[in-house]
Amino acid sequence: MSVEAIAVKMGRLQLANPAVLASGVHGSSLSKVLDAIRFGAGGAVTKSIGPRPREGNREPTLVEVDSGMVNAAGLPNPGAERFAEELRAVRGKRLPILVSIFGADEEEFQGVARALDDNDFIAFELNLSCPHVAGVGTEIGHDPELVGKVVKSVKRATGKPVFAKLSPNTERLVEVARAAVDAGADGLTAVNTIRAFPIDVETGRQALSNGFGGLSGGAIRPVALRCVYELREEFEVPIMGCGGVSSWEHAIQFFLAGADAVQIGTATITKFAMFNELNLGIISYLERKGIPRLDELVGAAHRSGAPGDGVGEAG
Ligand SMILES: Cc1cc2nc3c(=O)[nH]c(=O)nc-3n(C[C@H](O)[C@H](O)[C@H](O)COP(=O)(O)O)c2cc1C
Repeated sequence: MSVEAIAVKMGRLQLANPAVLASGVHGSSLSKVLDAIRFGAGGAVTKSIGPRPREGNREPTLVEVDSGMVNAAGLPNPGAERFAEELRAVRGKRLPILVSIFGADEEEFQGVARALDDNDFIAFELNLSCPHVAGVGTEIGHDPELVGKVVKSVKRATGKPVFAKLSPNTERLVEVARAAVDAGADGLTAVNTIRAFPIDVETGRQALSNGFGGLSGGAIRPVALRCVYELREEFEVPIMGCGGVSSWEHAIQFFLAGADAVQIGTATITKFAMFNELNLGIISYLERKGIPRLDELVGAAHRSGAPGDGVGEAG
């Protein structure tokens, strides 16, 4: 089976393979995004970029927990203008970079999109879902009306595909997603981190300077899978699954739930060069199950029968 079998077509967005670096985990410099692509990722999402430079929170901003970590980085980033300069350096290289952006309201989102749009990258991802930054995170991502406004205003600023990255911290997941899709979102990313509050037993106090943070890693995979499954029940738009992927088996779980591609964040901290391994695992699973192409597996958990049953048969 050739690598062609795992090429991904998500509307106008085409990726050579479904393993994508998730936003933000390696900081705001573009170099790690480029490294991920060099190491075989089918795409890579930048740190979320806002309207102006932002330092982020005081240390400690990261705590390890069972099967994951809690971060409250605070969206440190160089701001749209400086990041546009970084992007100019890779002009003409046709790299599968997705640019993540955030803002406090639809005008800020639109301003950031305009400042960055005139560069070579393949899509925007809207961070509507950071659980630990007041005013720009879940306040937006839990409000369907605001999400609709943000997506509409970004769509007006760009001809590039726009993915809305959703929060798992709301009962209104499907409602928020519908607002994004109705406003013209080309796809959904599910999900961002889960709001958490780690405590240090020695100090007896909050472990993160910010108190609240976002849980990521293996601990959140079943929740992320549930979100993707719920979204695929309702929508036909492309979905990138995100949350706790660290092996090809996890990626397959997301495809079965309905994701067209997966994003990998926390697991790349300890194993950056995992994209090729993931892709090889996916290819050998497809071979073993007699499934000719990855897109035939997408959403199979919603259908009856085991993966591969009846695939490729005439009639
Ligand atoms: C240190 C750290 C920084 C992150 N920064 C961002 C960010 O800037 N924008 C964003 O949309 N998500 C950000 N995320 C969330 C990840 O992109 C991803 O949605 C989440 O961690 C779940 O995936 P994972 O379990 O594979 O890490 C960050 C996660 C971590 C751990």
